Amino acid sequence: MIMLETKNVAKNYGGLKVLSDVNFNVTNGEILGIIGPNGAGKTTLMNMISRLTPITGGVIVYKGETINDKKPYEVSKMGISRTFQVVKPFGGLSVLENVMVGAFYGKRSVKTKREARLAAEEALGIVGLETMSNKDPRTLPLAQRKKLEVARALAMDPDLLLLDEVMAGLDARELCDMMSEILKLKEKGITIIVIEHVMKAIMGISDRIVVLHLGRKIFEGRPDEVVKDPAVIEAYLGTKYAAKG
Ligand SMILES: Nc1ncnc2c1ncn2[C@@H]1O[C@H](COP(=O)(O)OP(=O)(O)O)[C@@H](O)[C@H]1O
Ligand SMILES: [Mg+2]
Repeated sequence: MIMLETKNVAKNYGGLKVLSDVNFNVTNGEILGIIGPNGAGKTTLMNMISRLTPITGGVIVYKGETINDKKPYEVSKMGISRTFQVVKPFGGLSVLENVMVGAFYGKRSVKTKREARLAAEEALGIVGLETMSNKDPRTLPLAQRKKLEVARALAMDPDLLLLDEVMAGLDARELCDMMSEILKLKEKGITIIVIEHVMKAIMGISDRIVVLHLGRKIFEGRPDEVVKDPAVIEAYLGTKYAAKG
């Protein structure tokens, strides 16, 4: 079963072509990794799927329905949740309250504060932040703020979770921790698209990988194939990485 499919998706900002003819799909229960150099168009692609930015060309189909004309809150209700590359917790709200905001805008029809609190507590438990509930999120170290982003997205009860560089800036132990969190979410049946620069992480968790370069898909395949692909080595990995294997 295909959960999400892009057909010849394109994005222009004025005369600047940011994405052209991007075709890929994600099947139910899969982790799809998207990699590529800075400026390749990864975040823009995620912004289009979550409907934050207009789609210049092509079609995005989610659960069999074209979502080109949907609003962000509509696709949230349909089960698409995301994190943001630049972590921006709501100031003046506690960790728990930040996650409760997610619960109100997600797929579950949360109506009361009590329901939102329960959903938020569950999400914080999944990412291991339950003891931080009352803290001011701005006081948390980066790794925990990244987890807070994931918890807020999880409180929305997603079927498709979009993770934009949630592992950037983490140390080796935090990275392993986040990788196992993501694999746990997959086990819960959530389909995940993960954008990441950390090759070790993306290779370790993805079922399939798409490589973007200058707004085009230059590769799609298994993690063990991606490191051997000449075009990917040339555009992104560099020969040093490929030689090391
Ligand atoms: N709002 C915008 N207006 C104009 N150009 C943008 C905008 N957002 C992104 N871009 C440009 O689109 C390209 C792709 O950016 P982005 O999707 O953030 O890449 P990535 O996430 O792969 O690093 C870059 O050249 C960037 O400067
Ligand atoms: Mg980006």
